Amino acid sequence: MPATAAFEGQPLPRHVAIIMDGNGRWAEQRGKFRVSGHKAGVKSVRAAVSFGYRLGLDALTLFAFSSENWRRPEDEVSALMSLFIAVLGSEVRKLHRNNIRLRIIGDRSAFAPHLQRKIDDAERLTASNTGFTLNIAANYGGRWDITQAARGLAEQVARGELAPAEITESLLNEHIQLADSTPVDLLIRTGGEQRISNFLLWQLAYAEFYFTPVLWPDFGEDAFSDAIAAFVGRERRFGCTGAQIREQLAQKTDA
Ligand code: IPE
Ligand code: IPE
Ligand code: MG
Repeated sequence: MPATAAFEGQPLPRHVAIIMDGNGRWAEQRGKFRVSGHKAGVKSVRAAVSFGYRLGLDALTLFAFSSENWRRPEDEVSALMSLFIAVLGSEVRKLHRNNIRLRIIGDRSAFAPHLQRKIDDAERLTASNTGFTLNIAANYGGRWDITQAARGLAEQVARGELAPAEITESLLNEHIQLADSTPVDLLIRTGGEQRISNFLLWQLAYAEFYFTPVLWPDFGEDAFSDAIAAFVGRERRFGCTGAQIREQLAQKTDA
């Protein structure tokens, strides 16, 4: 059964972002090292990509490593980097075969040169794929994102190409990561915490938030479906009143 059949006729999200949290606790609960939780989490990444694809999403954006995660013990950081390299090596061809475009968002300049090369190669290989876009946020921080966008505009001003008065929301937006993608409709955070930990600060302006206690390695199709069902049941108002939204929906259904 296609993943969409269960939500027939409902407005589904087009872009879902996920804070994949709870790997460490998942491992600790089993008396294992934290890194085995990260390894187990890769399986959930595969399942989420497959589900997102079948759901017909335009984009799925996964938070894999935050700009603050460098603060973790050195051995955990290096295990995460090795895992990232291994997963890129083993999964990219599969993504490509499935017509999926892969993009890495975040400050990649902090990564080892060979990892940067792997990232560039993966992006180049999959650049013209049209199935859907998988964005992986690595060394990503929402504040970094807004800062690099502001710097981009400041450089244009310094070169005399732009006047400060010409800076608008939409111009700044063009410099923010994911500018060319559909707005994020739904943010899911696994692992029970109810915060965004410096994820997509700008892009989540009108996203629906869904928090679940399920730990990331346990987050499979059922848990993802629950999140989609919660989204489908919500009324998004974008600053309007509920009555205005219902009127617009009724007009759409009549048409
Ligand atoms: C999320 O799981 C993965 C990364 C941040 C890389 P955690 O490692 O944060 O797991 P918990 O929150 O400690 O359980
Ligand atoms: C957020 O999780 C980052 C990722 C999932 C990659 P953290 O576990 O690092 O967030 P905090 O520290 O609980 O806020
Ligand atoms: Mg965590």
